Amino acid sequence: MFYTLWFIFPLLFAALPPLCTAVLVDFQVAQPPPVPQDAKQCTVQILQRDFAFSFGLYRGNRSIHTAYRLRNTRFMGCSHSELHGHQQWHPVRQARDFHLPKRRKRVVDPVVCYSTLINTAVWRSSTAEPTVSGIIWNYIKDVTRFSLLFAKPGTFILQLDNLIEAGLNGTYSTTLHATFYASSEEHPPAKQANMIIPLSTLANDTGNDASVPPSFSINVTLPQNTVEVYAELLPSGNGDEETWYANVPDEFLATGDFSNMTLGQGPFREVRLLVDSMVAGVAFPYPVIFTGGILPPAWRPITSYGAFDLPTYFLDLTPFVPLLTDGQPHLFTIDVASAEPDRTILQNWFVSGVLQVITDASSKRTTGNITSYSAEPFAQTSTTGNISENGDISIIVTASRKIHITADIFSGSGEANHVVFSQNLEYVNQQNYFDDMFVMNLFQLSSGNVLSTHNNIPAVIDTFSYPITVNMTLFNAAGTFFSAFIDHSYDRTLLPSPFILGSTIKERQSAGGFFTIASTGNTGNGTSNNTFSYIDLAGNTFDQRVDAAFNNITLDEVSGSLSRAPDKEPPASPSDADTFAGARLPFLPGK
Ligand SMILES: *[C@@H]1O[C@H](CO)[C@@H](O)[C@H](O)[C@H]1NC(C)=O
Ligand SMILES: *[C@@H]1O[C@H](CO)[C@@H](O)[C@H](O)[C@H]1NC(C)=O
Ligand SMILES: *[C@@H]1O[C@H](CO)[C@@H](O)[C@H](O)[C@H]1NC(C)=O
Ligand SMILES: *[C@@H]1O[C@H](CO)[C@@H](O)[C@H](O)[C@H]1NC(C)=O
Ligand SMILES: *[C@@H]1O[C@H](CO)[C@@H](O)[C@H](O)[C@H]1NC(C)=O
Ligand SMILES: *[C@@H]1O[C@H](CO)[C@@H](O)[C@H](O)[C@H]1NC(C)=O
Ligand SMILES: *[C@@H]1O[C@H](CO)[C@@H](O)[C@H](O)[C@H]1NC(C)=O
Ligand SMILES: *[C@@H]1O[C@H](CO)[C@@H](O)[C@H](O)[C@H]1NC(C)=O
Ligand SMILES: *[C@@H]1O[C@H](CO)[C@@H](O)[C@H](O)[C@H]1NC(C)=O
Ligand SMILES: *[C@@H]1O[C@H](CO)[C@@H](O)[C@H](O)[C@H]1NC(C)=O
Ligand SMILES: *[C@@H]1O[C@H](CO)[C@@H](O)[C@H](O)[C@H]1NC(C)=O
Repeated sequence: MFYTLWFIFPLLFAALPPLCTAVLVDFQVAQPPPVPQDAKQCTVQILQRDFAFSFGLYRGNRSIHTAYRLRNTRFMGCSHSELHGHQQWHPVRQARDFHLPKRRKRVVDPVVCYSTLINTAVWRSSTAEPTVSGIIWNYIKDVTRFSLLFAKPGTFILQLDNLIEAGLNGTYSTTLHATFYASSEEHPPAKQANMIIPLSTLANDTGNDASVPPSFSINVTLPQNTVEVYAELLPSGNGDEETWYANVPDEFLATGDFSNMTLGQGPFREVRLLVDSMVAGVAFPYPVIFTGGILPPAWRPITSYGAFDLPTYFLDLTPFVPLLTDGQPHLFTIDVASAEPDRTILQNWFVSGVLQVITDASSKRTTGNITSYSAEPFAQTSTTGNISENGDISIIVTASRKIHITADIFSGSGEANHVVFSQNLEYVNQQNYFDDMFVMNLFQLSSGNVLSTHNNIPAVIDTFSYPITVNMTLFNAAGTFFSAFIDHSYDRTLLPSPFILGSTIKERQSAGGFFTIASTGNTGNGTSNNTFSYIDLAGNTFDQRVDAAFNNITLDEVSGSLSRAPDKEPPASPSDADTFAGARLPFLPGK
């Protein structure tokens, strides 16, 4: 059953443990990284670890993390770098006696893994929802833009918080490999920044992500000859913020009994990056649904998009170069704001960021001026709603954001750069509750564009549209038997941002089914229909249509230049894959 991996991930094969055919293989739809097939390559194992009692890294000796010191410098000048993650959940015994999840009770279902290299977040993933017979997944992450970090000694940390308790007695066996592809005339070395600066906690023993609220700040001193700075933000909503897009504005919480349905603090979130307390750019995030999210059976064996590779958001901070090149520390702040009157959110988002810095050939200080600055502290938002006589509730939250910053920058070697950075973002969220709160329909759309130009040449372009529809029906008042159908898309053009290959991805997933939470064992069923297309600036293409019903792949059509030999047989479905080892009410995540 494992031949898929042999074809698609040939380098992983040697590392795979012997497999039991009853183990479900989960996967996220994604393009294979566009690597030079004919290039010399080298694969190193970065870490191998069984994560068991690893929850609560911040609490001393129950913490388990894996750190690997990379000493190898022979990867300088490679054309591509990838990380190959392979994980398998091994249950130790049958999960039968776990508790019925209650509001805010911590349940152990998919957890988030944080990978950092030299304190720099390079990959955030969630794990697959455990099954009682085990589950396996693999993912390849293109980390070419971080090659600079692999070229010098440093520590690699993978944080995976797993809590062992009655009924959830299992480990995550994790193997991580890095593969480097040699550069050549045909495949020149990947463009690299001169310096990569983490916006992270800089901790030596955890994944370096900061928990907000409150906001996270770090002082950063940039080289005085900095001429360009790009930021990449890596945020994820967790705990009571995991299904943030389904939260109800506080002013409507009292209008219905949402106690078995969802939480408060509204559905809008913007992730803000501030430089010296000035808004430098924001992200309207894509709603990542983890594999235990909303309706766990919907994500077997096809996860929701982004579950194994959380999206990141690119901003151009070059307009701030005139402020940042004074040789002094400057305060970089990341926070997450809502559309509530006080802008606060629940606990918590994990945030981190990376600055990619380009310096001038001259060591002279870069000068210049911010010539215009237009950015409100927060998005413009509105919250309206009405309650009909029969108790139906309709709520609409909207937000919009316009940012426009221009600067003139003069490098020590005499180059002038006229920089324009703009963001134009829109958001709407509509929630309807019918039939005494037994039916909920949700529609959310975040869309917009980020554009920066340097002397009229695009530097960062991000045009995106992230619609999501959730239709949910409860079949009992406790909300322990329900159906949910989710239709969501990730349509994004990233062109031609520095250090990444510009690409357009159009992904759509319709998934849903039924779920029952019971003390005798959670059960459910689901189907998932997916269309995915990828095209990049180098002309690589990848298209996939893949459908699953009741843990079984029912259709898998792959084409495009990045496609490999197709699958001949669907993966076997384990007899007990319908049992879900950690589950909770759909919009009431545990802590
Ligand atoms: C930490 O180690 C000490 C001594 O081995 C032990 O008594 C204590 O229970 C451990 N704490 C946790 C949280 O595991
Ligand atoms: C899991 O449960 C089994 C059976 O109860 C027990 O023998 C084993 O020690 C447990 N494993 C862990 C890691 O707690
Ligand atoms: C990380 O380790 C170094 C060296 O031991 C130490 O100087 C530094 O303070 C540590 N950083 C944190 C955040 O603990
Ligand atoms: C940043 O530096 C300023 C000035 O030294 C200091 O007051 C502030 O506490 C620092 N903030 C952080 C988050 O380190
Ligand atoms: C920046 O603007 C100030 C006036 O606002 C001016 O005095 C200064 O010369 C300008 N600097 C550059 C490098 O253009
Ligand atoms: C309120 O009700 C009207 C009429 O039923 C509807 O058109 C409108 O969209 C509702 N407004 C909100 C905010 O739900
Ligand atoms: C699902 O929800 C969307 C958005 O609220 C709504 O337009 C649609 O009619 C609903 N579909 C069903 C089958 O209820
Ligand atoms: C919520 O669920 C509990 C059982 O967990 C039930 O007693 C209660 O009636 C439910 N509330 C509503 C509003 O249906
Ligand atoms: C997926 O497609 C199948 C076959 O057309 C259909 O029966 C199923 O309802 C679809 N599932 C979803 C969630 O749209
Ligand atoms: C899926 O679950 C629902 C609710 O339990 C059930 O009515 C339906 O028959 C199941 N579908 C399949 C194909 O098993
Ligand atoms: C899965 O697909 C195979 C091959 O199409 C079929 O024989 C099997 O009955 C399917 N299993 C389920 C649970 O639908």
